[in-house]
Amino acid sequence: MKIVLIGYMGSGKTSVGKVLAEELKIPFRDLDTEIEMVESKSIPEIFQEKGEIYFRKLENRTVKDLLSHDNDFVLATGGGTPCYANSLSIMLDAPNTLTVYLKAPISVLGNRLFLEREKRPLISHLESREALIEFIGIHLFERSHFYNQAGLVIDANADSPEEIAQRIIERGGLH
Ligand code: S3P
Repeated sequence: MKIVLIGYMGSGKTSVGKVLAEELKIPFRDLDTEIEMVESKSIPEIFQEKGEIYFRKLENRTVKDLLSHDNDFVLATGGGTPCYANSLSIMLDAPNTLTVYLKAPISVLGNRLFLEREKRPLISHLESREALIEFIGIHLFERSHFYNQAGLVIDANADSPEEIAQRIIERGGLH
């Protein structure tokens, strides 16, 4: 089975994904890392040198490619992955694939992302915590429509990655 984690930046897709993969004894894949390897560039470099549209096309192509193979894994996507082109349909229509939305409150996302915003081109220009929280509020409102179409919506607030992974296993019947 493939498990695809979607959700806003800072919702814990990578940390939860690693724990979940370990629990399920299947490999962990990270979409941003796959893209960085293909391009031999970091995500900020790709945005800066090639632009966001280039990145979104690459993201779409990489999701399509990963989900077209028959192997099992847990995939952590980027925060924008399901919101562009047909990437969400690819995930929802892929055989043996469960898409999980890690839903976290704006305050939790804001606190986590403020210290890590440098690595994220969409928010790296926001200088205060207040400006970041305002941005997340608007952005999440736009993106929730996509995220909420996941097969499973999991409350991913301040709990540990282990607790959230366990919740996915139980609610997703993945025992
Ligand atoms: C993005 C999220 C990032 C990365 C890129 C764009 C987004 O991934 O793909 O910076 O559009 O929300 P994370 O969600 O892992 O931070």
